Amino acid sequence: MSDIVTAVGTPNIALIKYWGKRDEKLILPTNSSVSMTLDEQLNTKTSVLFSNRLKEDRVYINGELQNTRGTEVGERLVCLDILRRIAKDKRHALVVSENSFPTGSGFASSASGLATLVYAASKGLGLRLSGKEMSIVARRGSGSACRSLMGGMVRWRKGVKADGSDSYAEQITKPDHWPELMNVVGILSASKKKFSSRAGMRQTERTSILYRSRMAYVEDAASRLTAALKKRDFQTLGEITMRDSNNMHSVMLDTWPPLFYMNDNSKEVIYKVHELNESEGKIIAAYTFDAGPNPHILTLRRNVNKVTRLLDEVDAVQKVLKLSMGNGPRILDRSESLIDERSLKPFKN
Ligand code: PMV
Repeated sequence: MSDIVTAVGTPNIALIKYWGKRDEKLILPTNSSVSMTLDEQLNTKTSVLFSNRLKEDRVYINGELQNTRGTEVGERLVCLDILRRIAKDKRHALVVSENSFPTGSGFASSASGLATLVYAASKGLGLRLSGKEMSIVARRGSGSACRSLMGGMVRWRKGVKADGSDSYAEQITKPDHWPELMNVVGILSASKKKFSSRAGMRQTERTSILYRSRMAYVEDAASRLTAALKKRDFQTLGEITMRDSNNMHSVMLDTWPPLFYMNDNSKEVIYKVHELNESEGKIIAAYTFDAGPNPHILTLRRNVNKVTRLLDEVDAVQKVLKLSMGNGPRILDRSESLIDERSLKPFKN
C-alpha cells in the first residue's frame, strides 16, 4: 500500500505584520502578528512519501529538483527533521510541491508551502498533532507559515520563552465568523523579490532606527485588531491594517541600505484607496502589502466591485483576484498524488 500523503494549503495575509526575529534559529518573532488565511484560489499542493529507498531528502518545487545543500530550501527542511524526531522514524522523504502562483514574489509561497508540507508530512509519519503543535514545527521552516495551519483569522503569539514553546499560532475567529470579509488582490508583478524576507528582516533589526518605535506600538495594535475582528468592526480593522502596513514599509525604508518592496504602482493604489474612503465618508477598503508590490485590499463583500474598479483603473494591474477566508490545509484523495512511486519522481504532466 502506498504511503504517499497529499495535502493542499493556502497562503495567509498578515494585517499585523511579522518583521524581525528575537531568535534566528528557532524563528521566534519580536512581535505577535495577525493574519487572514486565504481561500484555495491561491494554493500549494504537496505530496510526501517517506521511504527506505531514499538516501536523502529530495524536494521538487514546480517540477524542479531543489538544491538542499547550504540553501534556504535546505534550511527549511528542519521541519522534516523535527517531525521525524517526534515520530522516531529515520526514513528520508520525497516531497513534490506545486504552487498555483509564482514562488518568491511576495505571495507568501513559503507560508503556504511550509504549512502544507508540515501538514502532509505529519500525516505521512502517522502523527496526530494538534494545529498548535504543527504550527510550532512550521514556524521553524518559515515564520509566517505557522499562521497557515489553521483557517479563519489567526494570531501568532510571539511568546517569551527561550525554547519557543509558547510561540505558536491560534485561531482567533473561525472562517464563518465574518464571511463578508474579503481580500481583493491586484497582481502587478510576478517577478522574484530582490531581498528574501529572511535577509531583509535581519538587516532591518540591525540597522533601522525606527524599528524600536515599531516594537513599542505593535503589540497593542495586535490586541486592538483582534478585538475589532471579534466585533466585526471594519472601521477599526481598516485603519489598524493600513497603518501597520505603512509602518512596516517605513522600517524597511529606514533599513541601511534601504529595502523597497513596494513600487510606484503600489503607491498609486494607496492614494486611490484613501480617495475612495474619503468619497464614501468612511473606510470601505484597507490596503496591506507584504514583502512585495502587490496590493491586498480588505473590504466587505458588498464593496468588492468598487475595489475591483479601483484596481482596474491602475494600468499596471494585470489581474485581480477576489479571495475569501480560507479553512486551512486539508488532505486530498490518493488520486491527487503528485508522486510517481515507481520512479520516485514527480508525475510528468
Ligand atoms: O515568514 P517569512 O520569512 O516569509 O516572512 C514574512 C514577512 C511578511 O510577509 C512581510 C509579513 C508577515 O507577517 O507575513
